[in-house]
Amino acid sequence: MIAIGCDHAGCEMKKYIIDTLSEKGFEFVDMGCDGSPCDYPVIAEAVCKEVLSNNCEKGILICGTGIGMSIAANKIKGIRAALCSDSFSTKFTRLHNDTNVMCMGARTLGIGLGAELAEIFLTTDFEGGRHQRRIDMITQLENK
Ligand code: RB5
Repeated sequence: MIAIGCDHAGCEMKKYIIDTLSEKGFEFVDMGCDGSPCDYPVIAEAVCKEVLSNNCEKGILICGTGIGMSIAANKIKGIRAALCSDSFSTKFTRLHNDTNVMCMGARTLGIGLGAELAEIFLTTDFEGGRHQRRIDMITQLENK
């Protein structure tokens, strides 16, 4: 199960991602918004809570630029959120950073690219090994 959420800027991309990736077997829980103006930190918190409680394996957050969502998500302990706009970074943030949330900008990316990046994010496994030590160091930063 994947938690997905957006603010008013990201509804079209969110719907497209749910529609196209559901056809490929992914299941989503939609944490809002429905298109009415809303504040992105509220949606970021709702999606991240689904991930941290293990109700959902990963989270996807969409706003105008993806930046507000990524700032908000990365304030939450246990969340490693990546702002994704290209396939290389999207693949390697899973391989090396074990990110559990991806953020995208609906006003900077097309919806087709958004869906393609989401699929890469959801299908790429963490490499572990030397990268785990660095993830552990990030976790230590959270506790300082
Ligand atoms: C909303 O207008 C816009 O500020 C928001 O979607 C996002 O881009 C913030 O980072």
